[in-house]
This record gives sequence, structure tokens and C-alpha cells, in this order.
Amino acid sequence: MGWREGAKKRAALEAVKHVREGFVVGLGSGTTVAYAIQEIGERIRREGLRVFGVPTSHQALLLAVSCGIPLTTLDEWPKLDLTIDGADQVDKGLNLIKGMGGALMREKIVASAAKQFVVVADETKLVEKLGANHPVPVEVLPFALSTVVARVEELGGKAVLREGKRKVGPVVTDNGNFILDAEFGSVDALDKLDVAVKLIPGVLETGLFVGMADVVYLGKQDGVVKLERK
Ligand code: A5P
Repeated sequence: MGWREGAKKRAALEAVKHVREGFVVGLGSGTTVAYAIQEIGERIRREGLRVFGVPTSHQALLLAVSCGIPLTTLDEWPKLDLTIDGADQVDKGLNLIKGMGGALMREKIVASAAKQFVVVADETKLVEKLGANHPVPVEVLPFALSTVVARVEELGGKAVLREGKRKVGPVVTDNGNFILDAEFGSVDALDKLDVAVKLIPGVLETGLFVGMADVVYLGKQDGVVKLERK
């Protein structure tokens, strides 16, 4: 395992210490939180821990099933005890850009439903300012694609339709929508940008997670750094 995979796993193991008996846990998507999902499965086997998971994507669902985690839904549990998820960029104020895996809409719903939102990443994800050299993923209703692209340009951004890999044409999300990767450059007024983009008709969600995370574990080569909301 390379240092980065080790760092991701260390961060994930710290996050899983937040899981307690009887918890209903939101299960994020991506390669880092995958280590957390596996560890929850291990704890179920080792300790007889009783928990339920709410997956944020088909990826998380299939992994959780293969790890023996019983699943439930937001309809049964609209309030979750905890959500654990990864991130693409993290700033020191615990704001995030998410969605490079295309699961941002369910991820934001599940994070917002949780009493505590814990983020796991390796230290390369920590940045001074969100958005520098990184797009903001935006989930868009296919019908509205071109109007949203034009409106993002009016806001000073440049939106590119995310193309599939090993599939021709656009990426289609688990919700049947498209993803735009919108470059805005480094962003100062995160909450204003988030609101402005969300107000465009046809935009379903943005990958800006402002003021949502309670704890971030950043895995390093030789340990884990904990950032906490003050
Ligand atoms: C999925 O849509 C994303 O929000 C992921 O949580 C994010 O891209 C982090 O993924 P990795 O842990 O694979 O870097």
C-alpha cells in the first residue's frame, strides 16, 4: 500500500471510532470512506456492534452489503446519528468541495441529516482556498444543461460537462442527472457562490459543502491530524 492509501485508511479508522452501538450512520462515497465502510463491517464482526447504514451511492450500497452492514433509508430514519464521507478539497474552516465521484447530491442530503458529519481525507486535500485548480461539481437536470452552462458563465465560471469513462457521452449520476464541473478559481465568498449557483433553475445541487463538517481527519504519512469546528 502506497503512503497515500495508508494515510486515507488511517483517517478512516479514526472516523469509525465515532460509531457507537445503535447508531444509524450515513455512508459516503469514494475511495477514502470505503476504508471506513470496511472498518464498520469489521467492528460488526469483531464486537457484535449493531448499526444501520444509509448509503449515498450504488458504490457505497454494494460495498456496505459486501461488508455485512445492515442498511436502512432516510424514510425510516430522517435523522442520522453520524455521517462519514470523503472530500476533494478541504479548507481550514472545514468547508469542502465534494462530488468528483458524482455522488454529491445524496452526499449533501445525508450529511445534512446527521447530528455529526465527519470527513476523512489524506493531507493532499487540504488547501488554503477552495476552488484553486479545482472545479466545483454541479448536478444538473439534463433538460436544463445548456441554460445552466450559460448562467454559470454569467456568474464568472466555466462549466464543462463531465464525460463518462468506458462509456460514450456524459456521466449519468445515480439520480439520472448530468454533472457539470464548474471552474470559478479560488473562491472567497463560498456561501454566496453556493446560493447563486443553486438558484439557477435546473441546478439540483452543488459540491460546495459550506459550514457542514464537524470534524475532519486528515491522514498523513505518519499519523492523523484532527480539525474540529470551533
Ligand atoms: C464522491 O462524489 C465524492 O464526494 C467523494 O467523497 C470525494 O470525491 C472523495 O473521494 P476520494 O476519497 O476517492 O478521493
